[in-house]
Amino acid sequence: MIKVNTIKKEYTKWDWQAGKNVPFTEEMTQFILSTPNSTYALAALESGHLCHIYYGRRTDDEDLAYLMRLGENPYTPKVNSRDMGTFMDTTPFEYPVHGTGDYREPAVMIRDGNGATSLDLRYVSYSITDGKPLLSQELEDCTVKVPATYADGSDARTLCITMKEIHTGVEVDLYYTAFESLDAVTRSAVIRNTGDRVDILRALSAAVDFDSCEYDWITLNGSWARERIVERSPLHHGKQSVDSVKGESSHQSNPFVALVSHNADENSGEAYGFNLVYSGNFFAQAEVTQHKRTRVVMGVNPFDFAWALEKGQSFTVPECVMVYSDKGIGEMSRTFHDLYRRHLIRGEYKDKRRPILINNWEATYFNFDEEKLFSIAKQAKELGIEMLVMDDGWFGHRNSDNSSLGDWYVNENKIKGGLKALVDRVNGIGMMFGIWLEPEMISPDSDLYRAHPDWAIQVKGLPLTQSREQYVLDYSRKEVRDCIWSQIKAILDNANIEYIKWDMNRQLTEVASAALPSDRQRELWHRFVLGVYDLQERLCTEYPHILLENCSGGGARFDPGMLFYSPQIWASDDTDAIERLKIQYGTSICYPASAMGAHVSDCPNHTVGRSTPFETRGNVAMVGTFGYELDVTRIPQADRDEIPSQIEKFKKYNPLVRTGDQYRLGNIFEDNTFDAWMFVSKDKSQAVLTYVQVLGRPNYHSRRIKPAGLDPERRYRSSQTGEVHPGSTFMNCGIDVALDGDFKSLVIEFTEV
Ligand code: DGJ
Repeated sequence: MIKVNTIKKEYTKWDWQAGKNVPFTEEMTQFILSTPNSTYALAALESGHLCHIYYGRRTDDEDLAYLMRLGENPYTPKVNSRDMGTFMDTTPFEYPVHGTGDYREPAVMIRDGNGATSLDLRYVSYSITDGKPLLSQELEDCTVKVPATYADGSDARTLCITMKEIHTGVEVDLYYTAFESLDAVTRSAVIRNTGDRVDILRALSAAVDFDSCEYDWITLNGSWARERIVERSPLHHGKQSVDSVKGESSHQSNPFVALVSHNADENSGEAYGFNLVYSGNFFAQAEVTQHKRTRVVMGVNPFDFAWALEKGQSFTVPECVMVYSDKGIGEMSRTFHDLYRRHLIRGEYKDKRRPILINNWEATYFNFDEEKLFSIAKQAKELGIEMLVMDDGWFGHRNSDNSSLGDWYVNENKIKGGLKALVDRVNGIGMMFGIWLEPEMISPDSDLYRAHPDWAIQVKGLPLTQSREQYVLDYSRKEVRDCIWSQIKAILDNANIEYIKWDMNRQLTEVASAALPSDRQRELWHRFVLGVYDLQERLCTEYPHILLENCSGGGARFDPGMLFYSPQIWASDDTDAIERLKIQYGTSICYPASAMGAHVSDCPNHTVGRSTPFETRGNVAMVGTFGYELDVTRIPQADRDEIPSQIEKFKKYNPLVRTGDQYRLGNIFEDNTFDAWMFVSKDKSQAVLTYVQVLGRPNYHSRRIKPAGLDPERRYRSSQTGEVHPGSTFMNCGIDVALDGDFKSLVIEFTEV
């Protein structure tokens, strides 16, 4: 819901010229956006300054202007100009600028034709529409969709506020969408130039000024094989930030931050989550100011970024999703999950169970041929697995990671008879077929590189940095994307491919394009990401039946931008069930389990060398997309025998995991001896609880854990004991779990009776 009203407020204030207190009236336009439990309010002053008023628990009051403290400030635009600087540096602004007195972090910075970077943005007008407009970026030779959440008129309303910069031709449309049934507000912007050329130096998606600094800051950090590790610390004076400068959202940081009250836990306290719908360089920062207030900003990383706007051109600022919860961090996560499942993920698999796949990466690495793959498929089929995915190494002359990226035709020395013959053969036994691609890359040893060395991103005069013996293609160039697309199309039109794993195994270096003029080179970081989006959109549009799974050297591109194209993303190359407890806990902070690529792999685990029970590997992978990543012809017979019942269990619980509400019961970061979680159906008639004991406990009795999310009044039967109790008993008093040994796990079902 969005309400707009014009309010006249009476104030008195010390007038330095007059030497006395003078009354004054300020007429302001207030915009109050409400979701079921949150309110976001802002106002345009008569001067045109667009100020932030409030973000937090819902209020239905139509006048929140007193929160702006206009009378307190030594300057109010209307009364005097004696202390404009203080006004600028203390007032909460909606889209703060640089250079005119606000010394806090700006959201936008633009260089004018004279090289100056000071801006003065003033309110012009507003409009409100039902639903949510799509975002797109116009480029010289095409228009690219910019990923964002979507909604129709029954789900959301959008406020657009137009601002004008007073000394250039720059205009900014700020978009705010308030969702009707979820506590989510999204923000994005379009910057237009109606005058002489300017250069955007930063264009962030959101800035929110909080009135306090009494919050903890939660971020998701990590590395290869340990992505999205949760870190929480109290805010401190100055700036704390996370970012990526690698060209992708990265293993090291995720484009997510949250401010939570110091006492916030899973079930209580306030939590504000911010997540950027973007897959490239991002920046998120919380700045505690001199008055112990906090400015949070998030957007495309301004580091090494610039974007020229000639007259008539515009720049689309990606979307930032903001979620508010006054019921703890768990509720914040569930809102993100619902928002992404309903309003971000698209396509045929949006609400469907995904096929149970077997991927040959950890089974064979590069060492396979069509017979080996077929033997895996045949055995897998007998056990109930539904799809074979042929991972890296099937194309060009690739037998290790040192060649052929860019040459997307099958290696007939390896896959004798060709791709179609293999796919048909696998289809013939009733299995679907998927392939691995890494379309953004080019190997120095490839026909493509020999023909087009300038298609690799590179700086003239500098040696090219190899990483995994490969370079990155210049996806800012349409001809490059078209060439890769025509190769991909040839594969897809030739054989019945029903799944693609889209990988990206290195970060960007020497970032310059042979095709961009020197004064547009800094655009390449963003143009590259737009190029990736362009190709993924082509894939979704032209091959809607194909299930796309994004991946980046494990989980380096687990972000909402990617979720717009692929309903699932490979969470990590670390497939060890115990390491996955942390990775999946961290990922669940803002991404739904339905999107989490998770497989059962062989032991000892290839990343950490740990051996865990096959059952536990299954129970952990089951709270993701589920599949297998092992040579099913060579694993121990006992494990193989377990697969059919594991698959049955997955099929039984997957609807709950995919569509239900997730409750984290343990916190593996605070107590690493166990983890537990629950998925509860939306109608609360059914729930499934998984408990994983990391280490056996000498001379302890059972451990009591408390289920969550059940209806307190309704009665449930526990599959563990057969006992029937009201949900309130289970949730308040807990249940006892006892397991003997390390890495053991248990699944308990609660069914309403
Ligand atoms: C990185 C991925 O995360 C792996 O699953 C695998 O596909 C390899 N790349 C293949 O090179």
